[in-house]
Amino acid sequence: MSDSSGSESEVDLTLTERATIVVDAIREVIPKALHDPAVAVICGSGLHHLADALSPEPRCEIPFSELPYFPLTTVDGHIGKLVFGYFGTVPAVCMVGRIHFYEGNPFDMSVFPVRVFSVMGVKSIIVTNAAGGLNPDYKVGDLMVLNDHINIPGLAGWHPLKGANDPLFGPRFLALSDAYDLELRKKFFDCARDLNLTRPIHEGVYVFVSGPTYETRAESRMLRLLGADAVGMSTVPEIIIARHSGMRVLAVSLITNEVVTAPMPKVSDGEADLSAGKANHEEVIAAANAAGADMRRLVLGMISKLI
Ligand code: HPA
Repeated sequence: MSDSSGSESEVDLTLTERATIVVDAIREVIPKALHDPAVAVICGSGLHHLADALSPEPRCEIPFSELPYFPLTTVDGHIGKLVFGYFGTVPAVCMVGRIHFYEGNPFDMSVFPVRVFSVMGVKSIIVTNAAGGLNPDYKVGDLMVLNDHINIPGLAGWHPLKGANDPLFGPRFLALSDAYDLELRKKFFDCARDLNLTRPIHEGVYVFVSGPTYETRAESRMLRLLGADAVGMSTVPEIIIARHSGMRVLAVSLITNEVVTAPMPKVSDGEADLSAGKANHEEVIAAANAAGADMRRLVLGMISKLI
């Protein structure tokens, strides 16, 4: 496999053609038993161990760097590879390390892996992420199953479906009022109950912001006022592309920090602790690592309920 993203003869290739080239390249190197994953899992920040739940045989890993058209991930905690294998009896692909909009990729390329999954025949996708809790009831380590989202960049014109529509994937005007599959959400809660998980699991609204800065206090208050329960820099573009391709979607946020919404203390308030609750990437990764085992059990249990 080689990087073939730049040659002039390829400039006019459609997304479908590019995704098909990648699928052919993948199928050249993975065993036949892995050619048709039914489920894709996108592993969020610090959640790359989800792929450890794939059975050891047959199993095959391909770094993004060996795939044509795949942008490279540049973020600590995001390794950048596809791992093919089986969750129990279910053929699956895990995307370990995701490609974010804030890394400078054009939107259609940051979601390109989901197009590739669609061409491979993936029917359901589980998208995980690390998110900041805006809802005051949410604590670090809680989970939130997404039941809706607010796409701030999308509302402002930065949308992953902007530009020519490829009808081979889906419609020009896509409805998103049913983006989060009710059946899959029910199964997720059943699964958590079967596993006797004590970790609180909420259901709520995720707001997508472009990042890479964490939010100011005033921005956080605004996002909460808009109706969001958790905030993050990923997931929504992938979900839109998955729905455009007709996949069923389950998305889960791990709350890795409690977002500071209290107004900035004024000079007249005297000395104030400004560091309290200040978000940082290390805290996000640490919280994700601590929840890794539960997330693995949930994803594994969930996938056995999908087929
Ligand atoms: N804001 C945005 N993205 C995030 C956060 C946050 O507080 N925590 C983890 N990802």
